[in-house]
Amino acid sequence: MTNISGKTGNESRPGAGSHTPAPSDADDLRRQAEERLSDSEKQKSLWSEGGDQSPAKDTARLVHELQVHQIELEMQNEELRKARAAADALLAQYTDLYDFAPTGYLTLDREGTIRQVNLTGALLLGVERSRLVNRRFGLFVAESDRRAFSEFVEKVFASEGEKRGGDWTFDAGGNGKESCEVTLSRDGSPPFVVRIEGTRSTDGQECRAVVLDITERKRAEDGLKRSFQSLQDSLTGTIQAMASVVGFRDPYTAGHQRQVAELAQAIASEMRLPTHQAEGLRMAAAIHDLGKIAVPAEILSKPMKLSKLEFELIKVHPQAAYNILKSIAFPWPIARIILEHHEKMDGSGYPQGLKGDAILLESRIIAVADVVEAMASHRPYRSALGIGAALEEIEKNKGLLYDADVVSACLALFREKMFCFEKNPDA
Ligand SMILES: [Fe+2]
Repeated sequence: MTNISGKTGNESRPGAGSHTPAPSDADDLRRQAEERLSDSEKQKSLWSEGGDQSPAKDTARLVHELQVHQIELEMQNEELRKARAAADALLAQYTDLYDFAPTGYLTLDREGTIRQVNLTGALLLGVERSRLVNRRFGLFVAESDRRAFSEFVEKVFASEGEKRGGDWTFDAGGNGKESCEVTLSRDGSPPFVVRIEGTRSTDGQECRAVVLDITERKRAEDGLKRSFQSLQDSLTGTIQAMASVVGFRDPYTAGHQRQVAELAQAIASEMRLPTHQAEGLRMAAAIHDLGKIAVPAEILSKPMKLSKLEFELIKVHPQAAYNILKSIAFPWPIARIILEHHEKMDGSGYPQGLKGDAILLESRIIAVADVVEAMASHRPYRSALGIGAALEEIEKNKGLLYDADVVSACLALFREKMFCFEKNPDA
């Protein structure tokens, strides 16, 4: 585009190129400036009402050019002012977001020294922000947690980084992201617990840390833990009380339950059962013959072989125990474990004739521990058959009557790990 001086807009402007609008923008700016000047000259022309006051032609062109430049500069200045105002507004917004975020933000170097901190972080540490920079964050960490904090910083910087296309990437092992929970101390206030989540900066040189006060959450968690522990203690007490009831009536059964629980727990450990499941198994085993309180005492202590009818009466005990326990909300299926502890893998057990995996694993473990303890121990109607005969029985019927994995674990305990019952080491 050619202007009235015969030059293009870019050529005619002093300093064109230092602030370099795109050619189309520059042309547009020039056009707008000339329009404004044209309007202004029209006004002057109206005011002078036709008087012949024009200077020489060249001088007039020069004055015209200067006026156009002046208007262009004013317009550029206005644009810059607007851009600056927008940038200032964004900066204020970012600063507000950074400083008054609900969490503390800190930038730490490899030594754990504070390089930057937002206002929330300074408030959390109880020190004026300007006095925090260049101080070691670890100085605020309780002595007992300083090792954990040092390890946290080390881990953030630990994984190997690799520069790809200008950006740092980190191996899948750490990704430069770590977290820790430590206690901080602050002058004049009680200690408080924070969670720190650290992310390594993209150049791998700094740790961007988010610090969140979790004191209240920890208190609530501790309260829940105490409640849970209290509930566990109550359940253990309830189980012990039930076992005692059995003991008062039938000392043989009480001792049998204790030793079955001991062996069942060892089998669970050998089979690497999850802790919670093993705990439920131990509880169930400790009262697995609770239902025998429904069986006449004379039958339980009869010093001779039981008749068919008497044995049928004994067989009600799993169902009797189930009926007693079914309404108690244990965190484990205690009632069902006990109901199924006389079931056999081939379906020949009682009371339901369940087969294989239809029987709870905990019940299959008690079944093996039950027969081993019973055969190894003295009974009113017979002397002890011995642990050798007991192991022979489960080995012979491994996978037929008894769960194969449970039998393997039980045999390994006695033959390789020298398991023996605590109160009956000769068994
Ligand atoms: Fe039983």
